[in-house]
Amino acid sequence: MCAKPVELVRQFVYLLLCEFIWHYLTKLVILFVCFFCLFVLVFFSERVVPFLSRPTLPALLLPTGLHLFSSNAICRSLCLNCLYIGLYDPFCDLLPSFLIFSLLSLLFHFPVSFTGEHKSVNGWFDRVASIHSCLSAAQKVLQGKGLQGMKSYMQRQPAPQSSQGRNTQPCNCNPIEVSARLSEGKRNILVTSALPYVNNVPHLGNIIGCVLSADVFSRYGRLRGWNLLFVCGTDEYGTATENKAREEGLTPQLICDKYHAVHSSIYKWFQIDFDFFGRTTTEKQTEIAQDIFWRLHKNGFLVEDTVEQLRCEQCQRFLADRFVEGICPHCKYPEARGDQCDKCGRLINAVELREPQCKVCRQTPVIRSSKHLFLDLPKLETQLEQWLEKSTSTGDWTTNAKQITRSWLRDGLKPRCITRDLLWGTPVPHPDFKEKVFYVWFDAPIGYLSITANYTDEWEKWWKNPHQVELYNFMAKDNVPFHSVVFPCSLLGAQDNYTLVSHLVATEYLNYEDTKFSKSRGVGVFGDMAKDTGIPADVWRFYLLYVRPEGQDSAFSWADMALKNNSELLNNLGNFINRAGMFVTKFFEGCVPVMELQQEDKKLLALVGWELQQYIQLMDKVKIRDALKHILNISRHGNQYIQVNEPWKNIKGGDTERQRAGTVTGVSVNIACLLSVMLMPYMPEVSQTIRNQLNAPQSCVSTMLQGNGTFVCSLCAGHRIGTVSPLFQKLEADQIEALKKRFGGQQVFDPAAVPAPAAAVEVVTVNGVDPEKAKQLTQAVAEQGDKVRALKAQNAEKAVITAEVAKLLDLKKQLALAEGKSPEPAPQKGKKKK
Ligand code: 2FM
Ligand code: ZN
Repeated sequence: MCAKPVELVRQFVYLLLCEFIWHYLTKLVILFVCFFCLFVLVFFSERVVPFLSRPTLPALLLPTGLHLFSSNAICRSLCLNCLYIGLYDPFCDLLPSFLIFSLLSLLFHFPVSFTGEHKSVNGWFDRVASIHSCLSAAQKVLQGKGLQGMKSYMQRQPAPQSSQGRNTQPCNCNPIEVSARLSEGKRNILVTSALPYVNNVPHLGNIIGCVLSADVFSRYGRLRGWNLLFVCGTDEYGTATENKAREEGLTPQLICDKYHAVHSSIYKWFQIDFDFFGRTTTEKQTEIAQDIFWRLHKNGFLVEDTVEQLRCEQCQRFLADRFVEGICPHCKYPEARGDQCDKCGRLINAVELREPQCKVCRQTPVIRSSKHLFLDLPKLETQLEQWLEKSTSTGDWTTNAKQITRSWLRDGLKPRCITRDLLWGTPVPHPDFKEKVFYVWFDAPIGYLSITANYTDEWEKWWKNPHQVELYNFMAKDNVPFHSVVFPCSLLGAQDNYTLVSHLVATEYLNYEDTKFSKSRGVGVFGDMAKDTGIPADVWRFYLLYVRPEGQDSAFSWADMALKNNSELLNNLGNFINRAGMFVTKFFEGCVPVMELQQEDKKLLALVGWELQQYIQLMDKVKIRDALKHILNISRHGNQYIQVNEPWKNIKGGDTERQRAGTVTGVSVNIACLLSVMLMPYMPEVSQTIRNQLNAPQSCVSTMLQGNGTFVCSLCAGHRIGTVSPLFQKLEADQIEALKKRFGGQQVFDPAAVPAPAAAVEVVTVNGVDPEKAKQLTQAVAEQGDKVRALKAQNAEKAVITAEVAKLLDLKKQLALAEGKSPEPAPQKGKKKK
């Protein structure tokens, strides 16, 4: 909202600054800036690239070439100049007093009048003073305490960050400071998180795999001073949305609207700081997808083929493979699906099913031939391989991303159908295919471009600029082939100088306790449940990042979450920061004491510096989980240091001991400040709280991570800290037990925990039917079937598929037993096993 009190104050201050400071108080600065502008224009005009910026208001161009768009940043920058010429009150850390005077004059209606060239300001004053939201904001800020109220309000506000004001909608009212041009030393980083399907509420596994990982990296990148854009949105087209609409009796559009809002609010709660969170059902999507389509067509990378499909006349639609059921042509299993038989595990072509049925209306579908368009992947294969060779060797691709991509290429690429006989999709513009829409996996990645286009008209500067932009794609491993093979082929074939992925970051899977997350079985914690647990979003973020499936599958466990909260956050990190602050408060009346470093202090600082360097190196390589451990190492070192040096004893001693207590306290509180900055990407709210408690200067945020890991002391002797209070709360065992029961802790059948096949069969050979178990097993079979199908669709490694098929067959046997049937499939007379 533009009418937030602090924003109004900022806008106001900004305008006043432009008027006063530029024209009266800093003539020297103007000359200096003008000189530089001129210099830049004359000598570097070909390198000034006024794009890759967010929507802009009038900006201040610094001599360094950086554009400042935020009122706060401009204010701060100009205040430094005021300080230089002696007009700045260093004890009022925020505003020069003349500005406060002007602001108060507006808020309290005492007359101000401007003459001469600034007469127009009077009109502006009148207009702003008549805005109700502005006046009520003023009341909120001042709280009847006048200047003091204003000062303390401003001090309570989070320092302006590059993240502030970003929203799920483009907003021109609170631009942020970014470099508006590319510079030699500055990286332009484009970050995407896989677009979540709109029709599902994301679970914790989805959240850590995509949006949360991308968020942490984006926050880190901004701290590093990179020029970074982070986009995501809901993936809204396709059969799944059509079916959900049918299920809920709504139109697909309404389903998308409803669930887009659900996703937005979940991510907002988790503090996912997108620059823009859009959606794929927009005009821009149609425009860009169709443009790419025509380019592929023109360049000869699309081929036609006829496909036989099942059509349900009753439902008046072609049936996607998953929505048809019938008798398996191989094993006669009566409930085989259109793509695979869950009993014998074989892949099926839907038209081969005997007695097929539409899963929605149970009518018998008919076979229809339909012409479709295919992306000619074989024709693009050489180009793709050349690009892959370069991208995977220069970029930071996770090992799984490289392996999955290799396994796809190993057997040679086949043409992929990019059209579907559906209604809910981006229309295919070709006249011969006008009844069809694009296949969702052709369409969805184009969503990254269209979402950016819906955010800024400068989208092409990001997406058609491979030499100046580095693209990071975040996703779970099942999305890899679409981002490393299919989508890059679409873009390569379209030949429009697209930005292709430089760093493909894929997580493994997050399990729930020792099973899988499952929507259908209600197993696991879903995004909308997390906030109802009463556990703060930052603690959720911390734990999910602590167990991020980085390099291998991992699991969410309630007990482990409580353990990590109590040991790492409470006893380690929180304890250290709280002790450091409390010593300053209790022993030094709230002011950082003078430090005289001794060997031991230097040793600690060297250790801290090393951990900081590790953190930076790992974060640069997107090893988010590993980097987090180095933050915790620092507070562990800090706790030991305090424990050994006992400032609480030394403070009671003579001058030397008191001096020692002062040094230990000063060093500790400075390390606490560093920790707050390192924590920013992981726990943004906690990070801000620490900096508020320490009254830390904004400068510490930008300086600490922009070097190569040199520790900077940012709270100097004499610095007054704020009020210190505990950061974390203990999670009690009974509380966790209750949460586990309430949120997805059901002890349902666990397919992952199925014992080895032979043993399993023996254990369950009880005559008689167990309906409860049969029900659970039916679910497990369905889930395992989905898993196998997904693996096959991804062309996963044969060994992996075989192992999963074995699990599936075993589950089927158990199901048969639980239903009192024979565990063996019916013998297949006259059929050779393939
Ligand atoms: O797996 C999924 O949730 C897909 N909706 C991801 C799409 S990512 C991109 F291609 F849009
Ligand atoms: Zn079968």
